[in-house]
Amino acid sequence: MSHPDYNRRQFLQYAAVGTIATALPGFTLAGHRSINSKPNSAFKPDVELELTAQVAEVPILPGANTSVFKYHGKLLKGPQNALKTIPGYLGPILNLEYGQKVRIFFYNQLSEPSIPHWHGMHVPQMMDGHPMYEIFKDEQYVFEFEVKNPAGTNWYHSHTHEMTATQVYQGLAGLITVTDEHEQKLGLPNGEYDLPLVIQDRRFTAGNQLQYLRGMHQRMTGFHGDTILINGQANSAIPVKTRAYRLRILNGSNARIYKLGWEDGTPLTAIGTDGGLLEKPETFPYIMLAPAERVELWVDFSGRKPGTDLTLQSLEFKGGMPLMGGRMRHGGGGMGGGMGRMGMMGGGLAAGAAFPIVKFQVTEQVSDSPQLPERLVPIHRLTAQNISNPDKTIPIAIGMQHMAFQLNGRTFEMQNQIMDIEKIPVNSIQKIRIFHDNQMMGGMGGGGMGGGMRRGGMGGMGMMRNMPHPIHLHGQQFQILSRKQTKPSNSYDTVKQGFIDSGWKDTVLVMPGEEIELIKPFKDYTGLFLYHCHNLEHEDMGMMRNFHVS
Ligand code: C2O
Ligand code: CU
Ligand code: CU
Repeated sequence: MSHPDYNRRQFLQYAAVGTIATALPGFTLAGHRSINSKPNSAFKPDVELELTAQVAEVPILPGANTSVFKYHGKLLKGPQNALKTIPGYLGPILNLEYGQKVRIFFYNQLSEPSIPHWHGMHVPQMMDGHPMYEIFKDEQYVFEFEVKNPAGTNWYHSHTHEMTATQVYQGLAGLITVTDEHEQKLGLPNGEYDLPLVIQDRRFTAGNQLQYLRGMHQRMTGFHGDTILINGQANSAIPVKTRAYRLRILNGSNARIYKLGWEDGTPLTAIGTDGGLLEKPETFPYIMLAPAERVELWVDFSGRKPGTDLTLQSLEFKGGMPLMGGRMRHGGGGMGGGMGRMGMMGGGLAAGAAFPIVKFQVTEQVSDSPQLPERLVPIHRLTAQNISNPDKTIPIAIGMQHMAFQLNGRTFEMQNQIMDIEKIPVNSIQKIRIFHDNQMMGGMGGGGMGGGMRRGGMGGMGMMRNMPHPIHLHGQQFQILSRKQTKPSNSYDTVKQGFIDSGWKDTVLVMPGEEIELIKPFKDYTGLFLYHCHNLEHEDMGMMRNFHVS
């Protein structure tokens, strides 16, 4: 995939209507960039590191290397394990501790603008990697923040204006772990028994180069590839011993939603969500994991025989993507081969198809294993009584107009275009309602959808209203108050037991017809904090807005 910019510009041409076509990086921002290019001498870091976005050639498939974008890291100060380089195209794992002060020098050596965001971390606006802070080749941005998150699994990725999807696709992402005292007392599996598992789908050319999506329809649904990568590598089989493991799973895919399940039907034991550990372990028949969501699993291989294996799969589900007049083929099914290039010729793995994700091979018998704790960490439950302004629920209305997904009736505007409903007092706790605004899709703005789209040649763009959207809010983690399906649907029955609504979250999957209420604190920091769809193609099309906290 050598021309991300080409794809993006091509899209801008498609989108000659509406607000999308107006912004090109470097033009809108020229003259009022406020780049934090210098370290603050009053800030005394416990951990200091460099992160450079650069082009790299890495082995992913057998044969030729793949040209990727990669965050290259270097630890300047701090504990040796604060930065762990891994094979493949992902950036180093940053292992942080609650309370640490962290300084990251970000260097851009790409020939396009870039800026990283610390997804899930509670940091000030200037340190959050807002696209208005993207830097150009050979520039630097200095991030300085204190770790205020509890123990858990977060991640970092490019958040560049209209180029997040292409840059993340090419490799600009990495994991962040946070540890704290509470967690350390639990004696969870650690070291080699604490396994990161970043799941991404990609597509490759015959020459092993990354291939991105083509055309408007694929962009509307978001990219779905035919090859599953684990931790930035193909053909993953992970050797394990007969004991318990902690799996830190991140869905780092652009658009694909996974329905995680063990091949032999063993229930999954969740111990953590996006924002940290749960109060107590919970079991699920399967777990839905949308882009950007994390889940931590406890998996115990005790009692399994060396020489056997256990595969984590994505199970079949419906409602993952609109069916567009014969375009979608049903992939899944006969996976036959290995974990590498699976799926159908030319078509890719359809959203909601069944396929294997990663195989655990039991290679060694051991006699001791930690016990699953009955209780994990205390979670302070937020309730209606905590809401600062009970009469005012903040809406996040998912809509669509002029071939663009919108939030609250608008597409992304960089700054200064804040609607009243997007203004939030600092140190308040807000109730937020996310819902599909079918009204808006029907007729607002003089028949955008009403006429044109529905007769359009793509099997009915109106179907796009039936898409799931993983909605992500920057800043502090939230809790889910309620989830309701407004119209009964058979599709929903295939996913409804897979949501973990009891923990701290920063991303929530909103299925077609679903309405979700959540409660979110906005403490400590004023400024602009994004809310957006984490289907990265949707995000880049403008399905993103700012909250202004003041
Ligand atoms: Cu993971 Cu605003 O992003
Ligand atoms: Cu984020
Ligand atoms: Cu979306």
